[in-house]
Amino acid sequence: MGLNMMWVFLLFCFLTVNSIHGDHIGSTLTAHPVENPQGICALFVSGKGHDCQEFMVPTEDGFLLSVQRLTNAKVLTTDKEPVFLYHGIMQGGEGWVFNEPYQSLSYMLADSGYEVWIGNTRTTLYTFGHKTYKRSDDAFWDWTWDDLVAYDLPAMLHFVNSMTAKPILYIGFSQGAMTGFAGFTDRKLASLVKKVVMLSPVAYLDHVTSPLSRTATALYLDKMYLALGVYEYNTTNSQNEHILDSACQTLNISIGTCYDDIINLITGPNCCLNESKIEYYNKYSSQATASKNIGQLAQLMRSGRFCKYDYDLTGNVEKYGSPEPPSYDLSLIPVTLPFLIIHGGNDMLADVEDVKHVVSELPGKVEVHLMANYSHLDMIYATSAHVDAYPLVLKFLEK
Ligand SMILES: *[C@@H]1O[C@H](CO)[C@@H](O)[C@H](O)[C@H]1NC(C)=O
Ligand SMILES: *[C@@H]1O[C@H](CO)[C@@H](O)[C@H](O)[C@H]1NC(C)=O
Ligand SMILES: *[C@@H]1O[C@H](CO)[C@@H](O)[C@H](O)[C@H]1NC(C)=O
Ligand SMILES: *[C@@H]1O[C@H](CO)[C@@H](O)[C@H](O)[C@H]1NC(C)=O
Repeated sequence: MGLNMMWVFLLFCFLTVNSIHGDHIGSTLTAHPVENPQGICALFVSGKGHDCQEFMVPTEDGFLLSVQRLTNAKVLTTDKEPVFLYHGIMQGGEGWVFNEPYQSLSYMLADSGYEVWIGNTRTTLYTFGHKTYKRSDDAFWDWTWDDLVAYDLPAMLHFVNSMTAKPILYIGFSQGAMTGFAGFTDRKLASLVKKVVMLSPVAYLDHVTSPLSRTATALYLDKMYLALGVYEYNTTNSQNEHILDSACQTLNISIGTCYDDIINLITGPNCCLNESKIEYYNKYSSQATASKNIGQLAQLMRSGRFCKYDYDLTGNVEKYGSPEPPSYDLSLIPVTLPFLIIHGGNDMLADVEDVKHVVSELPGKVEVHLMANYSHLDMIYATSAHVDAYPLVLKFLEK
């Protein structure tokens, strides 16, 4: 009898501890928000009538990511699943809160009662850094896109799941979509997610028409970077400037035009950006990333595969036990996971043919919308997207 009571007591303790770690108790969050005057909440959201909190999320390989929680207290409801927004390459989560609130998908979701979580990869402007490495260390930049799949995405999705105890509605833009496609081939990770929205999605890259990206790739500039020992890729570093200049020269575009128009030269002719914000788009869409991350995209453009980083024959055998890097097999995504895909007809990175290719390999239900005159960045920045694109997203999530 006494022994039985002890078991009941132990079981009770176990359940209690578990439910505390398991997170939502009423509306009390268990991980504490952190102050961050340089964070997205302070810089972009504050003063617009919404609640915004910053969280620090460690990855298994030592990075300290920042994640924001954006809500509208007047309408927030526990009846809805949390939404997770994941940004593209060379930007951070600010892309979701840049435009006027009425134009932005993040605020539209918060104003519809959703708890909105904004993810940021390891080296964005808002990162809390690394447990061991400093920003100036080569090791801080020695990572590939595979590491975003293997570490950053699981860390953030497990965090949101633990804070909300609900399945997640995933929305990825560009590289954020690409990371989701690869990540959800892992059943355990996919089990945290209920629906997926991919905006300007990239995966297969062999039809990329972006002149600047094509030229840089054809010139093997990615290999040149690594050969020079430049692990950090940013357009304001002098070696990188030199390399960008040579790509512009090859295209016979004046350096001035190249820099002024860089986002259109890289992503395609965006139709519907707010002209008076272009300077900001340029600034925040050229955040530093790893040269190896850029290099992996260049590899995928050259190979036409959706696969891991290519370390060349010897390196591949050492790392993967095979001469070729293994593919991310999209057929492993659960058939029960529904997708909404919205892409642009003028997108030079997420080319229409490449989008068709990835759609053809998704095992479950896929709804596809083509925005004929949108290019890559229009999908998050177009001043018209709240009228012509985002209602499709809200409808898909509500269904
Ligand atoms: C770009 O890289 C250089 C050094 O490589 C660094 O000094 C600079 O702060 C970086 N700029 C940005 C915007 O990250
Ligand atoms: C490069 O552009 C200039 C000015 O637009 C033009 O005069 C010149 O012929 C072009 N060169 C090539 C090789 O296309
Ligand atoms: C464009 O951006 C400016 C400056 O941020 C803002 O005042 C204006 O309302 C925006 N216009 C549209 C149509 O989004
Ligand atoms: C985009 O296309 C729609 C038709 O699908 C048209 O009504 C709209 O005017 C176009 N916008 C721009 C800026 O080209």
